[in-house]
Amino acid sequence: LVIVLDFGGQYNQLIARRVREANVYCEVMPYDTPIETLKEKNPKGIIFTGGPSVVYEDDAPMVEKALFESGIPILGICYGSQLMGYVLGGQVEKAEHREYGKTDLTVDDTNLLFENVEKETICWMSHTYYISEPPVGFDIIATTKTCPVAAMVQPEQKLYAVQFHPEVVHTPEGTKIIQNFLYKVCACSGDWVMDDFAQEQIKALREKIGDKKVLCALSGGVDSSVAAVLIHKAVGKQLTCIFVDHGLLRKNEGDDVERIFKKEFDMNLIRVNAQDQFINALEGVSDPETKRKIIGEEFIRVFEAEAKKIGTVDFLVQGTIYPDVIESGTKNAAVIKSHHNVGGLPEHVDFKEIIEPLRDLFKDEVRNVGRAIDIPEFLVSRQPFPGPGLAIRIIGDITREKIAILQDADYIFREEVKNAGLDQEIWQYFAVLTNSKSVGVMGDERTYHYTIALRGVTSIDGMTADWARIPYDVLEKMSTRIVNEVGHVNRIVYDITSKPPATIEWE
Ligand code: XMP
Repeated sequence: LVIVLDFGGQYNQLIARRVREANVYCEVMPYDTPIETLKEKNPKGIIFTGGPSVVYEDDAPMVEKALFESGIPILGICYGSQLMGYVLGGQVEKAEHREYGKTDLTVDDTNLLFENVEKETICWMSHTYYISEPPVGFDIIATTKTCPVAAMVQPEQKLYAVQFHPEVVHTPEGTKIIQNFLYKVCACSGDWVMDDFAQEQIKALREKIGDKKVLCALSGGVDSSVAAVLIHKAVGKQLTCIFVDHGLLRKNEGDDVERIFKKEFDMNLIRVNAQDQFINALEGVSDPETKRKIIGEEFIRVFEAEAKKIGTVDFLVQGTIYPDVIESGTKNAAVIKSHHNVGGLPEHVDFKEIIEPLRDLFKDEVRNVGRAIDIPEFLVSRQPFPGPGLAIRIIGDITREKIAILQDADYIFREEVKNAGLDQEIWQYFAVLTNSKSVGVMGDERTYHYTIALRGVTSIDGMTADWARIPYDVLEKMSTRIVNEVGHVNRIVYDITSKPPATIEWE
């Protein structure tokens, strides 16, 4: 175990991620965790994160000097390094030149921390203060043009400090530096895997929940599925899942979700068939934001009505993952689309506490936890699917007929992406029922039918995206199949806009 001691920096979770990527188990703990608690955990090392404070300020987060004398190896990063310098008697000053961004770094490559790191390398800096003089007994092991102590070490006590951020990708050798600390300094073996995380979580959830009741809104998406199965493994039928089928899911999806969780996992799952309610509420509505609002509100209404039947529960599960935590922290951006399932907590459900078992994980880590607890691959590697579902992929008003057409076209498109072996490469791909009809000719007959648009994008996080270069022959096959197999469609177009300026979804 390595403890990441949190001083409030922006990249804290990224540090934890780098440690886990090095196959070392870690836990993020607040900076004011008592020394005894830290010692009881018997960590092989501690990493101090960065943070926004200045060490001299009255309310600056501190640690006791005794922690440095505990024999546990410590790596201080940014604020964490200044704190180490300050508490141990070095000088911390305001830098004349604020360093921000990519910076040339010269390291002492004979030091353990920089083993196999190029002597002249690049690091990512983001600081206003720096250590101008290290505490007695420390050696300087890296410098930049304006930062005299870019890294320092007290070898006997295994205290290391870096002013730069080794955890971000802009420090190309950062991963190596963190791994040197973990493997060489802390002597971690690096044999921890996601299975262990899953088992630890299950054990911790079992302890936390005891014999109490838990409620979960299950959508069948990756996050809520993994969260629900983790809790199910911990407390079995004390967990009740409510799956609201709004009728705007992909073809067969509602039945798949029911089958997997009810039959295969033997979970307490209530499927609410609210298709009519949603479709009625959406009747005649074509404005995208209105559609989104209606679905968000209906969802909460249906969920609350169902939860009422269950009565008071102790815990409500949320499939929040780490990027959601970061994003909800910066809510100054203009509203482009009001996302369903962000901030949409039911008000009238009786619960005492929220549990978020995936709060510290990135998406790919969530998928790995899912694999570790035997969730089928098609579910864990599933592409993102918006909460409002097909409602925002049918331009204009929504009818049952249009939903059926889109489900069929989308099914064929996804099948052919898979057949072409492109399903891992393309980040998200789906069909859109444009509201436009055009003239065609089929079997010497005039047709006047819908145009289906196909959308495939590559992306890292959905914030920006490029259109996927699907080969022409694959597109041709998709087009032919959809027009031949799906009624009321006579034209297929492929969307070749990136995001920005377009968005991934059409509405
Ligand atoms: P846009 O269309 O904004 O989509 O480029 C970015 C990503 O977000 C997904 N998306 C949603 N996800 N609830 C969600 O959970 C929503 O309301 C929603 N709207 C869009 C979209 O599929 C893409 O992956």
